[in-house]
Amino acid sequence: MKKMQSLSIFLLSLINKGKNMYKVGIITLSDTRSQNHEKDESGKIIKKILSDDYEIKQYIIIPDDQKLIINTLKHLVDDLALDLILTTGGTGFSKRDVTPEATSAVLDKECLGIAEAIRVNSLQITKKAMLSRAVAGLRKNTLIINLPGSPKAVKECLDYSLDAILHGLNILKGNVTDCAR
Ligand code: MTE
Repeated sequence: MKKMQSLSIFLLSLINKGKNMYKVGIITLSDTRSQNHEKDESGKIIKKILSDDYEIKQYIIIPDDQKLIINTLKHLVDDLALDLILTTGGTGFSKRDVTPEATSAVLDKECLGIAEAIRVNSLQITKKAMLSRAVAGLRKNTLIINLPGSPKAVKECLDYSLDAILHGLNILKGNVTDCAR
C-alpha cells in the first residue's frame, strides 16, 4: 500500500514538473460568513474547482468593509505577491456591497473583458446576473477578479472563465509569448 502511495506521489510530481503553479488568494466578503466561517460554501467551492495549476496560499473571510477589503487586497498583492486573487460576494445592490469599489481603488489596469464576459455568459443562465457589479483588473503582477457571492454563481462563473484566466496569467507571467492555439 505504502509503495503504491509513493509511486503515485512520484508520478504526480512528474506530471506537475515544469507546470506553472500559480499562487492564489481567495477572499470571501460577507458580514454573516465572517461571523461563521462554516457557512462559507462559496470560498470552499473556489478551492475545490481550482485545478492543479493553482496553489491556494490564502483563504480569508472578512466583512463588507471597504477599507478592510482594500488593505487585504494590497497585502495579498504588495506583500505576498500572489498571482491571482478571487473574491466572492459583495458585488450586488445591498447597502453593504462594496467589493467592486474596493477592488477598483487598488487596480492599476482594468480588465473589462473578464468581468463583462462572465456577466454575458451568466445572463444565459439568469437575468439576475445583470445585478452583479463585479470588476476585474491588474495590480502590479496580480490578477484580481470579483465573483458573485452564491456558491451556484461562483461555480458558473469559474467553469466558464477559468481556461481564459489561465491563459491570461501565462501571458502576465511571461510563460506564454503568443496566443496561437
Ligand atoms: N451570476 C451567475 N452566474 N449566477 C447567479 O446565480 N446571481 C446574481 C448575480 N450573478 C448569479 C450571478 C445575483 S442574484 C446577484 S444579486 C448578483 O450576482 C450579486 O451577487 P452578490 O451581491 O452576492 O455578489
